[in-house]
Amino acid sequence: MDFIKKLDLGEDKKKYLLDLVRKLEKIMEPELFAHSVNTMEFAVEMAVSHKEVENLFELCVSSAVHDYGKVFNTEELTRLARIHSPGLSEFELGLKPLLHSFVGDFLVSRDFGINNKRILRAVKYHTIGSRDMSVEEKILFIADKVEKGRKYEKVGKLRSLAVKDINLCLIEVYKNTIIYVINKNSFLHPDTSRIWNNICGGN
Ligand SMILES: [Fe+2]
Repeated sequence: MDFIKKLDLGEDKKKYLLDLVRKLEKIMEPELFAHSVNTMEFAVEMAVSHKEVENLFELCVSSAVHDYGKVFNTEELTRLARIHSPGLSEFELGLKPLLHSFVGDFLVSRDFGINNKRILRAVKYHTIGSRDMSVEEKILFIADKVEKGRKYEKVGKLRSLAVKDINLCLIEVYKNTIIYVINKNSFLHPDTSRIWNNICGGN
């Protein structure tokens, strides 16, 4: 976690991030914790090469906690989603791999007192994406899928692209995600085609 100490942030913010990561280490299984820290580290790497990132601190917080929902089992996530995300359809409630993000915003607010709307939005949409994503949201979406612990055929190329061209990388990562879901004969979220069109420059 040395990279946190080297961030171009005030000492109070670096201390907050280190404390947050230490809390996550106590709560998460080692594999999930490593993925969370790796995602944060790669998000920082992307932010350094993209000057349009306005808030490195918010990006670090959202990256660290994006998968906090995975600490909870499906039954609990479904129960919480019914209460705290009342807009979700029965079909969406059945998309088990996405539940941790659907209630992730509620959980990080409840358990870590994080109420920044931009951070909560990035956490909520890190799985399916959303239309008109901010640059910070795009970075979290990408970093989650290409951090150094991820191992799949195209990941090396995607990592290189991530630090060169965020928008092009987002298209490639989103495409990969759709293909991955289809190859598993799993369901696609109903918003996927709209988000895909938006990422490709449509409305
Ligand atoms: Fe993740």
